[in-house]
Amino acid sequence: MRLSVSLSLAVVAVTLFAFALKAQSAAPQVVAQTPPMGWNSWNYFAERVDDKGVRAAADQIVSTGMKDAGYIYVNIDDTWEGERDANGLLHTNSKFPDMKALADYVHSKGLKIGIYSGPGTKTCGHYAASLGHEEQDAKMYADWGIDYLKYDLCSFFPDVMQKQAPTDRAAQMRLMHDAYVKMGNGLKATGRPIVFSLCQYGWDSVWEWAPALGGNLWRTTGDITPRWDRVYAILEQQAGLEKYAGPGHWNDPDMLEVGNGKLSLDENRAHFSMWAMLAAPLLAGNDLTSMKPEVKAILMNRDVIAIDQDALGKQGSRIYSDGEVEVWTRQLSGGALAVAVLNAGSDRYSTHPFHLSLAQLGLHGAQQGKDLWTGKDVELTDNMPLEIASHAVLLVRIAEPK
Ligand code: GLA
Repeated sequence: MRLSVSLSLAVVAVTLFAFALKAQSAAPQVVAQTPPMGWNSWNYFAERVDDKGVRAAADQIVSTGMKDAGYIYVNIDDTWEGERDANGLLHTNSKFPDMKALADYVHSKGLKIGIYSGPGTKTCGHYAASLGHEEQDAKMYADWGIDYLKYDLCSFFPDVMQKQAPTDRAAQMRLMHDAYVKMGNGLKATGRPIVFSLCQYGWDSVWEWAPALGGNLWRTTGDITPRWDRVYAILEQQAGLEKYAGPGHWNDPDMLEVGNGKLSLDENRAHFSMWAMLAAPLLAGNDLTSMKPEVKAILMNRDVIAIDQDALGKQGSRIYSDGEVEVWTRQLSGGALAVAVLNAGSDRYSTHPFHLSLAQLGLHGAQQGKDLWTGKDVELTDNMPLEIASHAVLLVRIAEPK
């Protein structure tokens, strides 16, 4: 009797264990628990991206140490697409002879690979997009081993929204929403964990509805360019969006321009610092094969990356601005605090330094911190005068704010 009871108990235990295992494997894997980090082809290469360039980027991510610093996604943006065949299957164009082989190559480096499409007939670069082929395309991405999809509105606006609802803005927005639901479902149906990145420039307060349809990040604005005024204009549009970000779902103020165009060193540092304060995806957008050491040092500043990737996942807030200087804080895990003082205007030196109000940040008395760009310890005191060059930032991590 006793033997048969323990035998049945054993059977029950084994069955429960098997169920638990099955449930575990069926549950969708979580992605983007911290803001995605990696590289994207668009900002530097645009339509010049090809198989060779993507392999080179993957190689560089490993050899520069960027992979070890957290840059994992190698994302192909627009212009990889060819034509659809009689079965509706989309082929790559001649720049990408074998996408599966490319994905295998990127994976062999311990990296992940991303791709690009949109809900309209055409992408922004006038290549074939996914309208009417959403499930088929999602399945093809999964078959290739794709890990990340950026889905860009573009021609869906004229093709569908304006055509089907020429005068009804609300109906247009519903069409847009449904188009993102459709691809979100297509991706889910593959069973493969694929980061879903919405790109529709922040229309219709996308941050309010993207997480529910499986969006892991969503662009909050139009395109970035490698110019300080554009970087700053985008930053200005992020204040107030912080409550919508968190593990698995992030505001996306667009990819990095660090190392591109004519951004000065201070501007590159300020751009990178503020994107970290925003818990923004960190997708480098420069040519990694010809990266200057000072640009590499910015992209690989581990302390700043740690702010971006902080496990709490709380996006920073602009606490106050005074003239052209802005003071932002970001709460970090373990009770730490990041403080960024950004001078968006002209130089502030000893003739007219900026005076930092700790009281306005809710801090009391002197604070011990680390300056994340000099690597040195600093003490912040209330009303202290700060000299900050034009477009430069003071970024401090306070481990135990008081
Ligand atoms: C849009 C997007 C960009 C880029 C291009 C590609 O402009 O916002 O980030 O993907 O399309 O054509």
